[in-house]
Amino acid sequence: MSDTGRLLRALECRACCAEVAPDHPVGTCPTCGHTLLARYALDHLDGRNWARAVSGRLPTLWRYRELLPVAQMESIVTLGEGGSPVLPLGEVPEAPGIDVLLKDDGGLPTGSFKARGMAVAVSRARELGLSRLFVPSAGNAGVALSAYGARAGLRVSVYLPAATPAAMQRGCRQYGATVVTVPGTIREAGEAARAAEGPGGGFDMSTLREPYRVEGKKTMGFEIVEQMGGALPAAIVYPTGGGTGLVGMYKAFQELRELGLLERPPRLVAVQPDGCAPIVTALREGSPRATPAPSPTTIAPGLLVPAPFASERVLEAVRATGGTGTVVSDPEIERAVGRLAARHGVSASPEGAAPYAALPRLVAEGAIRAGERVLLYNTGSGLPFVAGTPASG
Ligand SMILES: Cc1ncc(COP(=O)(O)O)c(C=O)c1O
Ligand SMILES: [Zn+2]
Repeated sequence: MSDTGRLLRALECRACCAEVAPDHPVGTCPTCGHTLLARYALDHLDGRNWARAVSGRLPTLWRYRELLPVAQMESIVTLGEGGSPVLPLGEVPEAPGIDVLLKDDGGLPTGSFKARGMAVAVSRARELGLSRLFVPSAGNAGVALSAYGARAGLRVSVYLPAATPAAMQRGCRQYGATVVTVPGTIREAGEAARAAEGPGGGFDMSTLREPYRVEGKKTMGFEIVEQMGGALPAAIVYPTGGGTGLVGMYKAFQELRELGLLERPPRLVAVQPDGCAPIVTALREGSPRATPAPSPTTIAPGLLVPAPFASERVLEAVRATGGTGTVVSDPEIERAVGRLAARHGVSASPEGAAPYAALPRLVAEGAIRAGERVLLYNTGSGLPFVAGTPASG
């Protein structure tokens, strides 16, 4: 059994079929500018043996290291990410007859699932010799990059919408990152970041504009299959902003299928706020890509992504699994945050509560059905939101 990502063969663009060698830093496809995804030599891995070896390892995401892109064990930058619990919630009043479970990434380092992508991407960035990284972020990705950058000894700059919760802004600074706030959404933060950094600046760690964060997110799918085994959920309900988590889980399911470790993947269900729902709109309209959401607004900062960069890949992940999408209102999200806490003892951010908020609509729309088991993904802790701190600081 090889140890770390010796099976990584190429970075490939699904839009124009270009292939790039993975041995130097690269962002998007040099030919067409779309997302590059890692391809592994899966035929060099015996699926059953691999699954057995994985099951004996520590419960971090590095247990899947043969299918992660970091070449040397010494390159791994870790804070113990991965291995989050799947909590049974039982039957909830808003979804009669449905067996509801929740995968809770709120306890991961830096309080969100963003730790998964940043642990892998920062490890690989350092391995490839990068020393300065930047990211536009709604908050959680910035905190995660700041933490892993500090651990790796790399310089980090974070560009945040001015309305980002103050606790997240302070968090980035505490880890030693340079923080720049920008009026508007993550779209404007991204434009400001790329203009400020320019050629010779830091390396862009934006979601799906570099190939390795999605590899870390892939471990959400690996974990779900490993933890739930023969009792896989019929559907996974996921709070969707840029959609990296959906692309990552779909990639995990494809790789597990190729290894003979999965027959049929769960349906991937995208939940977005009704004030910013470009992916759900595209799903409903049958479009191949999303149109930017007009006048985007929501209380869930991570879901305020009016123009997801790789919408084609996100839509592919949902459609290929027979999934769907729905929207929730801000009051519904707020109510779900309260219910998750009071009924189930779960601290969820507004994003992480959106799947719970969506349950009644998913039942009404026939997207989930009585007798099914459904997994909600809580992507982040509610703690940074509890204090109700003002947005600046
Ligand atoms: C807590 C939380 N959930 C969900 C998302 C959306 O993530 P994705 O890019 O996977 O759609 C974000 C992004 O910032 C987030 O911070
Ligand atoms: Zn291309």
